[in-house]
Amino acid sequence: MEGVALVLSLLLIVVNLDGFSCVYSGSHCIESEKNALIKFSQGFKNPSQSMLSWMFDENCCSWKGVECDNKTGHVITLDLHKQFLQGEFRTSLLGLPHLRHLDMSHIDFLGERIPEFISSFKDLEYLNLSKTNFRGMIPEHLGNLSRLQFLDLSGDFSLQVNNLEWIHSLFSMKILDLSGVDMRNAENWLHDINLLSSLSELRLSACQLTTFPELLPTSVNFTSLRILDLSLNYFNTRIPSWLFNTSHNLVYLNLSRSQLNGSLPNAFGNMRSLRVLDLSGKSLLGNSPHSFEKMSSLTGYLPPTLPSKLKY
Ligand SMILES: *[C@@H]1O[C@H](CO)[C@@H](O)[C@H](O)[C@H]1NC(C)=O
Ligand SMILES: *[C@@H]1O[C@H](CO)[C@@H](O)[C@H](O)[C@H]1NC(C)=O
Ligand SMILES: *[C@@H]1O[C@H](CO)[C@@H](O)[C@H](O)[C@H]1NC(C)=O
Ligand SMILES: *[C@@H]1O[C@H](CO)[C@@H](O)[C@H](O)[C@H]1NC(C)=O
Ligand SMILES: *[C@@H]1O[C@H](CO)[C@@H](O)[C@H](O)[C@H]1NC(C)=O
Ligand SMILES: *[C@@H]1O[C@H](CO)[C@@H](O)[C@H](O)[C@H]1NC(C)=O
Ligand SMILES: *[C@@H]1O[C@H](CO)[C@@H](O)[C@H](O)[C@H]1NC(C)=O
Repeated sequence: MEGVALVLSLLLIVVNLDGFSCVYSGSHCIESEKNALIKFSQGFKNPSQSMLSWMFDENCCSWKGVECDNKTGHVITLDLHKQFLQGEFRTSLLGLPHLRHLDMSHIDFLGERIPEFISSFKDLEYLNLSKTNFRGMIPEHLGNLSRLQFLDLSGDFSLQVNNLEWIHSLFSMKILDLSGVDMRNAENWLHDINLLSSLSELRLSACQLTTFPELLPTSVNFTSLRILDLSLNYFNTRIPSWLFNTSHNLVYLNLSRSQLNGSLPNAFGNMRSLRVLDLSGKSLLGNSPHSFEKMSSLTGYLPPTLPSKLKY
C-alpha cells in the first residue's frame, strides 16, 4: 500500500510540474472567486487606483488587497482599507466563502445598514467596518461569526444596538471596538461582554453608556483585558471597585469625561501593570482633584512603576 501511495504522490508531483503548479503554489486564483471580486468592485462608484490595476492582472491572488490561501487558492483576505471608495456592499462577496480577513474601513457605504449576509463568512476572524458610514441597528447575525477575533465597528456615530446578547457566541474575541455605537439601551452590556474571556482590548468610547454595575451578578471573566477605553460616556454611577480588583493586566485605562461619580477606590493599587491612565475632563464627577490627591496618597498601593502617562 505504501508503495502505491509513494508512486501516486510522485505522479502528482510530475503532474504538478506539468502545469498544475498553481494548485500547490497558490499563485493562481479560482475563476469564480475572481468574478465575485470583480462584481463586488463594480458596486463602487469610484474605483481606486489599486482596483483599476486589477484589470491588468489575470491572477486575482496577486491583486493589491487580495490574498489567497497558498494551498487551496481560495481568497482569504480582502483589505480595501483607506481606498476612499464609495458605493454599495454587494452580495457578490458571497462568492468568497473562505474569507478570514475583511477590512472595509473608511469605505463610504452611503448610510446603508450592515448587511445580514455578512454572517455567512463562517471563517471570518477579522472584520473591520470602522468609519464605513453604515447606519441603523447592528445585525445580531454577527453572532454567527464564531471564529471572530477582531471586530471593529467604531467611528460611525450612527450605529446602534439594543443588546449585546449576540456577542455571547463570539468567544474567541480578542479586540472589540464599538466606539461611537449608540448603546444606551444595551443595559446588560457588561454582563454580555463578561462572557468573552479572551478579550484583551475593549473600546467603548462615546457609546452613551449610563450603567456600570457596582456588582457583577457573576464573577469577572475578562481577566486578560489590557486596554479599556470607556471615555466620553454618561455613567452616573460610582466607579466600581471590582474593576480594580480584577484588572491585574490592565495597561491602558481611559475614563476621560466618563462622568463617573466618586473617587478612586483603594483597590486602585491592584493595577500593577497600568502604564497609561487618563482621568481628564469630567471623569470623576464632583471631586476630581480630590480623588487625584487620594490617589497620590495611595503610594503604598501604587504599582512600582507609575503610569508613564497620567492625565487628570
Ligand atoms: C504562503 O503565503 C504566505 C503569506 O500568506 C507566504 O509568506 C508564504 O511564503 C507562502 N508559502 C508558499 C509555499 O508559497
Ligand atoms: C480598523 O481600521 C482602522 C482604520 O483603517 C484602524 O485604525 C483600526 O486599527 C482597525 N481596527 C482593528 C481592530 O484592527
Ligand atoms: C444567524 O443569526 C441569526 C440571528 O441570530 C439567526 O436567525 C440565523 O439562523 C443565523 N444563521 C445561520 C446560518 O447560522
Ligand atoms: C466565562 O467565560 C466562559 C467562556 O467564554 C463562559 O463559559 C463562562 O460562562 C463565563 N463565566 C461567567 C461568570 O460569565
Ligand atoms: C476588592 O479588593 C479589596 C481589597 O483589596 C476588598 O476589600 C474588596 O472587597 C474587593 N472588592 C470586590 C468588589 O471584590
Ligand atoms: C482618552 O480618550 C479621549 C476621548 O476619547 C481621547 O481624546 C484621549 O486621547 C484618550 N487618552 C489617551 C491617553 O489615550
Ligand atoms: C454621586 O452619588 C451620590 C450618592 O452616591 C449622590 O448623592 C450624588 O448626587 C452623586 N453626584 C453626582 C454629581 O451625580
